[in-house]
Amino acid sequence: MPQTLPGEMPVITRPPVALRAFRDEDVGLVQSVAGDPLIPFITTVPTSGNASDARAYIERQHDRLASGAGYSFAVTDAVTGEAVGQAGLWLRNLDDGRASTGYWIAARFRKRHYATAALEAISLWGLSLDGISRVELYVEPWNEGSWRAAERVGYVREGLLRSWQQVGAERRDMYMYSLLPEDVAAGPGGHR
Ligand SMILES: CC(C)(COP(=O)(O)OP(=O)(O)OC[C@H]1O[C@@H](n2cnc3c(N)ncnc32)[C@H](O)[C@@H]1OP(=O)(O)O)[C@@H](O)C(=O)NCCC(=O)NCCS
Repeated sequence: MPQTLPGEMPVITRPPVALRAFRDEDVGLVQSVAGDPLIPFITTVPTSGNASDARAYIERQHDRLASGAGYSFAVTDAVTGEAVGQAGLWLRNLDDGRASTGYWIAARFRKRHYATAALEAISLWGLSLDGISRVELYVEPWNEGSWRAAERVGYVREGLLRSWQQVGAERRDMYMYSLLPEDVAAGPGGHR
């Protein structure tokens, strides 16, 4: 982790969610998404659903900070503290001033604006950090819940990246979205 970036996971509160480091008690959440049709294919969530594999996933999330890969947060309900999903800020292209983000919410907690709030929280925090001028997001065109969340936050769709990524057995197209500081100033939907 470059010295100018935080060396610890902060708690970021943006109701209805709060983002925090993963804890051992979140193991049940990780187990519960093992059978999701998408989450294990775009993350390292284990498909086995067993507790030791889920604990290893949580350990890997702690390693992301130690290795400089980025910040992997548990998304929690701001009132109950219960973990409902994950949101990451990834730093592979930090040398070029770019971060990327990705997230998931367990199916039983969807459509409560948790993803929108988590994405807003992690993106604004990311843009506030030294050396990050742009946050990128890749979304499959069919994934309306995800691109709706992005557009609510102020992300701008830049185009379609054809055959961009292997997801499971197939190559998939992705919309390229980005958020710049001026998009935040424009407010949600400022570009629509
Ligand atoms: C995509 C995902 C994160 C959305 O999480 P969520 O917490 O349900 O999203 P939100 O409640 O913030 O919804 C955002 C908007 O999309 C809408 N929406 C949510 N799911 C939707 C769906 N399946 N179809 C159409 N619209 C949907 C919501 O109504 C909301 O619209 P509004 O702001 O106009 O009310 C969740 O479905 C998920 O984890 N999917 C699997 C992993 C994944 O796709 N990750 C993102 C990869 S880019």
